[in-house]
Amino acid sequence: MANVYLALLHHPVFNKRKDVVTTCITGFDLHDIARSAATYGLKRYYVVNPLPAQRAFAGRIIDFWSDEHSLEFNWTRAEAFKLISIKADLDEVLADIEKSEGKKPKLVGTSAKEKGAVKFSDLAKEIKRAKGPYLILLGTGWGLTDEVFERFDLVLEPIKGKSDLPAVQAGYNHLSVRSANAIILDRLLGR
Ligand SMILES: C[S@@+](CC[C@H](N)C(=O)[O-])C[C@H]1O[C@@H](n2cnc3c(N)ncnc32)[C@H](O)[C@@H]1O
Repeated sequence: MANVYLALLHHPVFNKRKDVVTTCITGFDLHDIARSAATYGLKRYYVVNPLPAQRAFAGRIIDFWSDEHSLEFNWTRAEAFKLISIKADLDEVLADIEKSEGKKPKLVGTSAKEKGAVKFSDLAKEIKRAKGPYLILLGTGWGLTDEVFERFDLVLEPIKGKSDLPAVQAGYNHLSVRSANAIILDRLLGR
């Protein structure tokens, strides 16, 4: 079974007007995604943001919930937080994984749009058989830019919900990144 890593990218992402922007790190994304990462046995959860003030903000939250008192008060949160690593860009993430694995990971893109068509079941089988590491990439804002998608080795099919949604909701699949991540990890690594 290959080792699986996760990265949440705050840049380069689109805003609503399709400008390329940097989004803010949120407490929810640190807490909720770290807990999913721990539950599904990920090796590391990278939070990626080029702004030093944003990285410092995330660092303060992580330090606050990782001291001895917090460990005693809520050990499941402290355990999950141990998986978080804050980086400035994707290249730093790749270098970190290469340092511990001896090779670069296969990059797995995700999107609510029809950007890719790799079936969850096919990638789940591949990860079970493979030795090399995988890195799942999640977007923020209005999603990852095309230049990032060009770097991916494969892109997963979008998660889709109920097939017979009423017309007003037809085609709706815009999940929060936290919900999307939990579903993706369960489909790829769940029992
Ligand atoms: C574009 S961001 C939106 C973030 C939003 N502002 C929030 O509060 O979570 C959502 C990210 O979650 C993932 N995502 C959301 N819906 C998805 C779907 N239906 N299928 C696959 N991935 C999805 C993708 O990684 C996407 O880049």
